[in-house]
Amino acid sequence: MIVVDRIATMQALMRQYRREGKTIGFVPTMGYLHDGHAALIDRAREENDIVVLSIFVNPLQFGPNEDFARYPRDFERDRRIAGQHGVDVLFHPEVDEMYPAPLSVQAVVKARTDVLCGRSRPGHFDGVATVLIKLFNIVMPDRAYFGMKDAQQVAVVAGLIRDFNFPIELVPVPTVRETDGLAKSSRNVYLSPQERKEAPALYEALKAAAAAVDRGERNAEAIRRLVREHIEAHTHAEIDYVEVCSYPDLTPLSALAGTVLIAVAVRFAGARLIDNIMVELPAADRRGE
Ligand code: PAJ
Repeated sequence: MIVVDRIATMQALMRQYRREGKTIGFVPTMGYLHDGHAALIDRAREENDIVVLSIFVNPLQFGPNEDFARYPRDFERDRRIAGQHGVDVLFHPEVDEMYPAPLSVQAVVKARTDVLCGRSRPGHFDGVATVLIKLFNIVMPDRAYFGMKDAQQVAVVAGLIRDFNFPIELVPVPTVRETDGLAKSSRNVYLSPQERKEAPALYEALKAAAAAVDRGERNAEAIRRLVREHIEAHTHAEIDYVEVCSYPDLTPLSALAGTVLIAVAVRFAGARLIDNIMVELPAADRRGE
């Protein structure tokens, strides 16, 4: 595995691979790797000649009161995991390398940001889009792998790739969970033992919502209430949002139809957690409109 921390080195290396006709799979991360990241790497390993993993905690996507400084970091451990999963190139730049001066041009995400994490984290997706434009131009991948745990991020990145004509195939990968259902997250380490015990209630609530949809529930408010009540009954977390929206355009729904994303975010004292579930229904019947 080659470890690179300079952009120019990275671009020279990637151009070389492209000249050799190799396909490149890219997994962007902020590190502190877990089995969710590993699932993206494994998928990229199956589908490409070269697998590139980036580890960069991107200051631009953290709000002023968010956890940039205390975001967990352990590069030696990450390097070991990356090697074990067959990563060819590990790109690990410093903040100064990625942002040597204030940006003169910056991405602004216009669609899909007035809901879910976009609403509770203003500017977050602008930071994500900006760093991904840089990373895509540095890595020049054929495919980029993103986890459905961050479903809104997948939808925003699909828009970015389409709008700016990046010749990149976006590959969404299902959420990897602990055995008790908690979605794996780098931030889980900051949960207290009590919070860790309560945290599986998020996915339980989402599964109960999906089961209600299976039984015929189509009212989004009823689904939101069900999720809220389950979380309130089983955790001390403060609910940030429970939303029911169409996917991938992320329009809030009152009646469920088509591909529906049920998503939740909560704040425990130790960490903010998100999770979601997707349900498939027949498309809306628009004859009455
Ligand atoms: P990070 O939170 O490190 O996540 C990197 C990738 O791993 C994302 O695509 C995320 O959806 C995926 N991932 C995280 N937990 C997962 C799980 N339990 N199952 C499946 N996939 C999971 O997302 C980011 O970093 C950043 O916003 C980034 C895209 C790197 C831009 O800075």
